[in-house]
Amino acid sequence: MSSRSAVLCSRNSHKARELERLLPGWTIESLDRDDYPPETGATYYENARIKAAFGREHAGGWVLAEDSGLEVDALDGRPGVLSARYAPEGAPAIAKLLGELAGVDDRAAHYTSELVLLTPDGRELRGTGILEGRIAHDARGSEGFGYDPVFVPDGEEQTVAELGNEWKAENSHRARAARALLAALG
Ligand code: IMP
Repeated sequence: MSSRSAVLCSRNSHKARELERLLPGWTIESLDRDDYPPETGATYYENARIKAAFGREHAGGWVLAEDSGLEVDALDGRPGVLSARYAPEGAPAIAKLLGELAGVDDRAAHYTSELVLLTPDGRELRGTGILEGRIAHDARGSEGFGYDPVFVPDGEEQTVAELGNEWKAENSHRARAARALLAALG
């Protein structure tokens, strides 16, 4: 198991905590700045690269960036890359989502996580992870963050917020992206 220190280009403290658990032996410090460039990419990968390039300007060593979101089939993939801007995170975003899905039977959705790692010698490595599931009819549970209280993974009856952080560390879209990244790193 390699030990490594990386800067994470995000102000989302949940992500730093989850990633530190997912990348054993790594120390991950968030790059806490208020001048991140706008996430104008059309894809999670493009947005992760925008954050990583910004991180490279401001930090040496290993630079890690992640972009993620929730895509809901009945909403034609919304909120998607705009997940963080759909509504203020937490209760307001969940209320808006449940409102949009009121009376909708097709609740299928998936989370995507795209990780980009810049190595000190200038290489870029990438890992993608997807978690399929459905949107519940009401919010349940207290762990995780964002849409976790209304996201029920395939094969489960509980929401991610009920399944908890240990479950996320094994099974989440971010866990899958981290495993793919470690495989790419060799
Ligand atoms: P980003 O920081 O621009 O990548 O925004 C990601 C957004 O997608 C978050 O603010 C959440 O709204 C949503 N999201 C991503 N991953 C998760 C997760 O693991 N649980 C709940 N919501 C998530």
